[in-house]
Amino acid sequence: MSARLEDLPLRDDLRGMTPYGAPQAPLPVALNVNENTHPVPQEVADDILDAVALALRDVNRYPDREFTALREGFADYLGHGLSREQLWAANGSNEVLQHVLQAFGGPGRTAFGFAPTYSMYPLLTRATGASWIAGTRGHDYTVSADDAAEQVAAARPDVVFLCAPNNPTGTPMSLDVIEAVYDAAPGIVVVDEAYWEFAPRDERSALTLLPDRERLVVSRTMSKAFAFAGARVGYLAADPAVIDALRLVRLPYHLSALTQAAATAALTHAPVMLRMVDEIIAQRDRIGATVAALGYQPHESWTNFVLFGGVAEPAVTWQELYDRGVLIRDVGIPHHLRVTAGTEEETTAFLDALASIDSRS
Ligand SMILES: Cc1ncc(COP(=O)(O)O)c(C=O)c1O
Repeated sequence: MSARLEDLPLRDDLRGMTPYGAPQAPLPVALNVNENTHPVPQEVADDILDAVALALRDVNRYPDREFTALREGFADYLGHGLSREQLWAANGSNEVLQHVLQAFGGPGRTAFGFAPTYSMYPLLTRATGASWIAGTRGHDYTVSADDAAEQVAAARPDVVFLCAPNNPTGTPMSLDVIEAVYDAAPGIVVVDEAYWEFAPRDERSALTLLPDRERLVVSRTMSKAFAFAGARVGYLAADPAVIDALRLVRLPYHLSALTQAAATAALTHAPVMLRMVDEIIAQRDRIGATVAALGYQPHESWTNFVLFGGVAEPAVTWQELYDRGVLIRDVGIPHHLRVTAGTEEETTAFLDALASIDSRS
């Protein structure tokens, strides 16, 4: 017989929490967790395999604790004059964000984000012992610089998460908002650019704000644009002193030699790895236009997904799509559903399935 969770001497602050649980159902069309549904191109996969095979020869030894080659790879990829002393990486950007919270949040402290935003921020915050403060967004999920600064100044959080562009809404965030929040915040400001590669090319990343802002952190991931979700590689850029703080909380050798080898090899092929981004952007825009034509209200998206409103009963529509072999996400926003842009075929399957259901409100 198995014990119940309530019977265990669990930390009081974890009682009643629910784990992250996006369904992993074996459906033909899975567009629910904002993955890149295109596989890694064969030519890159061959190189990654060679690099992993080489790393295997030394797998009896602990890996490079400082993942030097990988940090250099990220510095090259990001540009903006960054050097490896300003780079950090971990097993997915979730772990990167956890490191930030372990170093700068923790018991008695607070973290803040403008809701609705990435569902892991509150979970990571609470699991590392801090409290979560939810700010609010304005019209169409945007935040203005003045309002954002006012909310942050009032909350005085130790860590602020700015998801730019935002998940689950797709909403862009302009640099003046980030600057205003930084000036108003007493603590660390994390700009989570997990979806940055899907933003318009002529827009400026928060990386351009890093000089002279030692409390600013910009995080990225290889999970989305790089089609590397299964390899678990996220990273951030910040002042070298921030990186030193993260060294205090990471587990020794947290990035396996195989992960380092695979990610470093993939980065040397960045243009090929990113080849599918334009195709995904085209599918995202097609979703926006088609759901609008079907009578729903898509929100502006700078990501690889679309949040659309006007759904009478999201749970019912979600199930009807599921029954047609299409998995999307009910993110808990009334009358809304979120769908990831897939390959052309997957996107067509979703749009055809949605068109066959009358679920407008
Ligand atoms: C905004 C945002 N940040 C971070 C992540 C985590 O990505 P990973 O841990 O795969 O790098 C996600 C994943 O969906 C996300 O949407």
